[in-house]
Amino acid sequence: MSSSEFDKSLLPANYQLLKSMLKEVSGLYLTDNKMYLVETRLQAVAKEYEFKSLNQLVDGLKGPRSQKLRVDIAEAMATPETFFFRDKKPFDQFKNFVLPQLVEQHKKMKRLSIWCGASSSGQEPYSLAMIVDELQHTLLKGWSVKIIASDFSEKILRKAKSGIYSQFEVQRGLPIQYLMKHFKQESDGWHVKDDLKRRVDFRNFNLLQSPAPLWKFDVIFCRNVLFYFEPADKKKILYNLDGALNPGGMMFLGAAESTVGVCDKFVALKEERGIYVKTDHALALSA
Ligand SMILES: C[S@@+](CC[C@H](N)C(=O)[O-])C[C@H]1O[C@@H](n2cnc3c(N)ncnc32)[C@H](O)[C@@H]1O
Repeated sequence: MSSSEFDKSLLPANYQLLKSMLKEVSGLYLTDNKMYLVETRLQAVAKEYEFKSLNQLVDGLKGPRSQKLRVDIAEAMATPETFFFRDKKPFDQFKNFVLPQLVEQHKKMKRLSIWCGASSSGQEPYSLAMIVDELQHTLLKGWSVKIIASDFSEKILRKAKSGIYSQFEVQRGLPIQYLMKHFKQESDGWHVKDDLKRRVDFRNFNLLQSPAPLWKFDVIFCRNVLFYFEPADKKKILYNLDGALNPGGMMFLGAAESTVGVCDKFVALKEERGIYVKTDHALALSA
């Protein structure tokens, strides 16, 4: 089928159907002016299923392959934008502020757990793993540190688990010494070495699911995902994250995200922007 045969128009009723389906499957809140996004992102899915128009694609949601189609559409509409050590500051805070505090708190058990809740193609959890690896000779000597990374998209998780990145991807934010230490160059790109790969356990998890995963975490990274949700879903997710965070734990959100006015379970640390702690724990400490 040539691209000129493809009909990109979408009936208003079908746009609404797509909107409510996306909200249900991934939580993505599509405003009414995002038609261009639907057109650009869903053409490939439609063609894969041999639909000749976006309207046919939406009709397909009532057909026999609807379950897989729902997931494929939600994955295609998700924004996987990420890069190594994104925004730099949170990673400096993780290394120089959060880990030393937690080491103090947990020095008896010598065990820490970290959850990266919307890990996309893996650059964020691998960045955390590189810091942990570096500190295992000093601050974290003898410590067991578990890193769980999750995303709702199987497609993006496959890339994360493969640990293979293009030249462009490793040039975005990854310091050269980490590239040299933890990656090897092969014909199809830069491969994360097994030692680092073993540090991250990738799982499929939808943040809208409750309760949050069985595990309790000392650190949660949930960055650059909350802004895709509408307030009620944001609130639900933040309540889930509160349930998944240990009392003295710390949570990172993206630079454009906040719990303020959405969920009273967290307070921001004044001295460390972007880090949140449990309100109950902060109150208990100040009492
Ligand atoms: C913009 S990326 C952010 C990646 C990374 N946290 C960062 O800051 O670089 C957003 C990720 O959230 C994932 N996502 C979207 N909705 C989700 C949901 N309901 N549950 C889990 N992950 C979700 C997307 O698949 C995508 O990989």
